[in-house]
Amino acid sequence: MGTAPDRQDDPVHDVEVLRKIAVDVAVSAGRFIVDDRPVTLSVTTKTTDTDVVTDMDQRAQDLIVTALRERRPDDGFLGEEEGSTRTGRTGITWVVDPIDGTVNYLYGIPAYAVSIAAVVGDPQTTGGWRPVAGAVVNPVMGHTYSAAEGAGAQRIDASGRSMTLRVSDLSDLSQALVATGFGYAADRRAWQAAVLAGILPDIRDIRRMGSAALDLCRVAEGSVDAYYERGLNAWDLAAGWVIVTEAGGTVSGRSDAAPGSDLVVACGNALRAPFVERLERAMSECDVTSA
Ligand code: IPD
Ligand code: CA
Repeated sequence: MGTAPDRQDDPVHDVEVLRKIAVDVAVSAGRFIVDDRPVTLSVTTKTTDTDVVTDMDQRAQDLIVTALRERRPDDGFLGEEEGSTRTGRTGITWVVDPIDGTVNYLYGIPAYAVSIAAVVGDPQTTGGWRPVAGAVVNPVMGHTYSAAEGAGAQRIDASGRSMTLRVSDLSDLSQALVATGFGYAADRRAWQAAVLAGILPDIRDIRRMGSAALDLCRVAEGSVDAYYERGLNAWDLAAGWVIVTEAGGTVSGRSDAAPGSDLVVACGNALRAPFVERLERAMSECDVTSA
């Protein structure tokens, strides 16, 4: 294993090297956001009044940009925060969310993560890219999730124990524990609540934990059976996507399209057909045009 299947013999695309870089940089950024958190965070808003960003999101991203540039000066970069889009020359782009779960970070709820992925293709399109390696680090729990294409997914816990990740093999929709998330715009949230009301009677329960990257890692480790959300950006999705896939699951969009802002659905293969059918029915019963 080592290189992405379409870039054999090319050391620049060695996916194990990319995975290790993603892990190292995400672990140090994770340490930074916990250890250097000021007593009072400076907070501003982005798309809506509830879409917050703290000074630590920007500082963590700056640290990640510097670390990646030192190791991989010719790669591209796409990050959630300001000043971070760069086209590279290698065909690899680093897609980064310095803090996924910023609202949890603000409130001190230990469910936020640093998410770093190496992708091929253009991450600003839907369907034109895929992650080949990635890492998601929850610095408070001490969990490091990572994967490389063709080489499996793993979680290293706070005491250094490593575990190979495997999605749940559940097939019975009525028993499924499903994670989801909500966007920041009122219209989008109203639509998401309506879809949720549609599927809720037909599943075990819902979890809304507040970090899409960690939700995807939960699917990969089987601690939820499925995850779906409308409105994700590439940085929320990229690292978790390869982690789920390498744990034996699938990540897709609406009507089997590639995952993207329209929809991301992640689950094990046994649950896929009943879950996707129920979710798409609930979505088609709600007016999607406004959200
Ligand atoms: C958000 C989180 C949340 C999800 C939102 C994302 P952010 O990312 O992943 O769980 O529901 O859609 O925007 O804003 O904390 O980086
Ligand atoms: Ca973020």
